[in-house]
Amino acid sequence: MPEQIDPWKNFDVKDYDGICKQFGIEKFPYKEMKNAPVFMRRGLVFGSRDFSSILKCIKNKEKFVMLTGLMPSGKFHIGHKMVADQIVYYQSIGAEVYLLVADIEAYNMRDKSLEELKKIAVEEYLINYIALGLDLKKCDFYFQSGRSSDAKKSNAYYRLIGQIARKVTANEFKAIYGDLHPGKMISSFTEVADILHPQLPEFGGPKPVLVPVGIDQDPHIKLARDVAARMKEFNFIPPSSTYHKFMKGLSGGKMSSSDPYSYIALTDTPEEVKHKIFKYAFSGGQDTVEKHRKLGGNPDVDVAFQMLYYMFEPDDKKIEKIREEYKTGKLLTGELKQVAVEKIISFLKDHQKKREQARKQVIKFWNKSA
Ligand code: TRP
Repeated sequence: MPEQIDPWKNFDVKDYDGICKQFGIEKFPYKEMKNAPVFMRRGLVFGSRDFSSILKCIKNKEKFVMLTGLMPSGKFHIGHKMVADQIVYYQSIGAEVYLLVADIEAYNMRDKSLEELKKIAVEEYLINYIALGLDLKKCDFYFQSGRSSDAKKSNAYYRLIGQIARKVTANEFKAIYGDLHPGKMISSFTEVADILHPQLPEFGGPKPVLVPVGIDQDPHIKLARDVAARMKEFNFIPPSSTYHKFMKGLSGGKMSSSDPYSYIALTDTPEEVKHKIFKYAFSGGQDTVEKHRKLGGNPDVDVAFQMLYYMFEPDDKKIEKIREEYKTGKLLTGELKQVAVEKIISFLKDHQKKREQARKQVIKFWNKSA
């Protein structure tokens, strides 16, 4: 178990309960979420900070903001889909959605130009978000490098980034992030400002804000909550967060944009899906049919099963039947993979049509905002 969570280092969490205990993260009350996406219903969103105030808003139909950010990095895959589904879900239950592209962070931490990052953000992320159901008209979408065409709002956001620096000491920063890399400092203060700025007077004043992220972002969330309390002049309400587990990569490690054989991209062709699942998806089955029939497979480590469970087989009865049959050896690895392949291909076929529609919307959006 790490002493600390480093948002800029890939780390693979094995013991989520242990992480919750160690960092004081509360359980996410997923059973209370009505009509939630299948992975949320089945526990992939595991932790939270201060979610009860958001739950109260949802139950009483009171206003709240959902804000999250994306790092533009290569192909949009089903791990990213899980984040998109959460955004679409919160939008559908009435949250005011803020969605940002962390291009300043990506620029400082990676080796790409702002133009390249923008292209990836739009082509890979935004188009897929819309195809997955995001209503762009009801969403405040922005780049860290250019907050708004409304000068008052834009100034307020950049002013806040500048003001945050006074609220954090170098020792504190070092204790949280390990060092004082200038790019990390700018990225961290910008993210804190992302999280807090919906509560500035220019954005309508204090209100509950929910930030759904991966557990690697918890250091920023904690800092944002601390800074919120220190900036007495704004009366910020400490922001809330939820944490999802990372989707397992095909071979069982991390799903990573830099390794195409670790993920299914939302632009993959049927042939690619088939090839990737059959060749690379880690199997919980036995190595011979005879052994499998006798001993059965282990669905808990089987990547094809996990994909069905968290994403592509929402029917509780059907997924439990698959689990049982796999465990008892009635269902073979190849058969299980075939079920997953068919489900994924059928989803992607529909999704890729929607992507073309979404592209038109994005072009319109761009022409208007340029
Ligand atoms: N650091 C985040 C990531 O690596 C991106 C991000 C920037 C973000 N600002 C944010 C996420 C505000 C949530 C809220 O993915």
